Amino acid sequence: MPQFSALIQALRASSTIAFNAKALELKRAGVDVIAMTAGEPDFQPPAHVLAAAHEAIDRGMTKYTASEGTLELRQAIVNKHARENGLAFTPDQVVVSTGGKQSLYNAFMSILDPGDEVIVPAPYWVSYPAQIQLAGGVTVPVACRAEDGFVPDPEAIAAAITPRTRAIVVNSPSNPTGAVVPEGVLKAIADLAEQHDLWLVSDELYEHLVYEGTFTPVAQWYPERTVLVHGASKGYALTGWRIGWACAPVALAKAMNRLQGQVTSNANAVAQYATQVALESVEATAAFQAMTRAAYRERRDLLVAGLNDLGLPTPMPHGAFYAMADLRTIDPDETVAATVLLEQARVAVVPGTDFLAPGFARLSYACSTGQVAEAVQRIAAVVGR
Ligand SMILES: Cc1ncc(COP(=O)(O)O)c(C=O)c1O
Repeated sequence: MPQFSALIQALRASSTIAFNAKALELKRAGVDVIAMTAGEPDFQPPAHVLAAAHEAIDRGMTKYTASEGTLELRQAIVNKHARENGLAFTPDQVVVSTGGKQSLYNAFMSILDPGDEVIVPAPYWVSYPAQIQLAGGVTVPVACRAEDGFVPDPEAIAAAITPRTRAIVVNSPSNPTGAVVPEGVLKAIADLAEQHDLWLVSDELYEHLVYEGTFTPVAQWYPERTVLVHGASKGYALTGWRIGWACAPVALAKAMNRLQGQVTSNANAVAQYATQVALESVEATAAFQAMTRAAYRERRDLLVAGLNDLGLPTPMPHGAFYAMADLRTIDPDETVAATVLLEQARVAVVPGTDFLAPGFARLSYACSTGQVAEAVQRIAAVVGR
C-alpha cells in the first residue's frame, strides 16, 4: 500500500472515543458498565424540535442550502445572541456548520499560518490541539490549577504570549473541567488579546449549562477579533443532528465559508430547519433547558459529594456536565487508575492524559441520577470505603 500523509500519521485519535469504545466493548461482552465517558446529553430533544424535523421532511426541505446556512437559521442565531447575550451580529457574520467542531476547524484553518502559536488553557478539550495541529499551528498549553477550580490565570496566559502567538482559546463552561470562568477573568484575557493583536476563539457550546454564577459572552468586548463558536449539541440535546455555528467579523466569516464551501458545503438541511425552530420557540426551549439543567445539577451534586467523600478530591464544577476527579490515591498514573475503575468498579471514565490533566480523570454525569448513585457505590467498593 502507498504511504499515508505525514499530517495524518501525526494525528492521534480522540482519547474520549478510545475509552468509550473500551466501555462499549465490555458492554457488548455482557458486562454491566456505567459509561461516564461521553459528552452527550442523555435527554431526547424537545418535542417541538422533533416535530420541526418531521415538518422539514414533509415540506421537501431536502435540497442544498447556501453553504453558510439558510438565511432564516442565521437570522434566528443573530436573534438568539441579541436576546440572550446582548450581542449585535448580522446574518453575514454567521456560518452554520456540521457541528461546533467544524466551526472551530474552519476558524483555526482561517486564522493560522504554519508555526503560529495558540494559547489554550489546560486541562483542555482534546480536539483543540488536534485541529490546531491540522491547521499547521502549535498549541501552547497554560496550566490551570485544581485549587483554583481550573479557572485560567490571565497572568500565566500573559507570560505565554510570544511574537508567534496568533490566538487565545477560551471555553467557559469548560469541557473537561466544568469551570465557569468569572467575567473579570475573561475580560482580562480579552484585554490581552487586544493589547497583543490576537484572535479570541470563544467556545460557548455549554452556555446553557451553568449551575452557579453567570455565563459571560466574550464577544461583547472586542467583536472585531472574536470568533464565537456555538451549536445545538449540548444545550439543545441535538448532538447527532450536527449543527454548530460561528459568529465572526464579516471578513473572517467569509473566509471560513470559503473553506467550508470547498469541503462540506451546507450542514444538514433538515437539522438546520429544526435548529431554527429550537431557537425561535423561545419559551418552550427555555423550559426544556431549565428542566435539563435542574437534572444535571442534581446529578452533579450527588457525584461530586460522593467522590470527595471517597477521598477522591473533585473540585466543584459550576457548569457543563463533567467533573474532574483526582484519582492519585488509586494510582499515580491516571490511565492505570481509570483502568482500575473500568475493570473493577465497572465505571468508565476518561483518563486526563490527553486533556493535560495528569492524575485526574473526567467523569461525565450526563447519565441518569440512578446511574450516578450506582457509580459512586461501585467506586466506593473499589477504594475500600
Ligand atoms: C468544548 C467543546 N467544544 C465543541 C464541541 C463540539 O460539539 P459539536 O461538534 O457536537 O457541536 C464539543 C463536543 O464535545 C465540546 O465539548
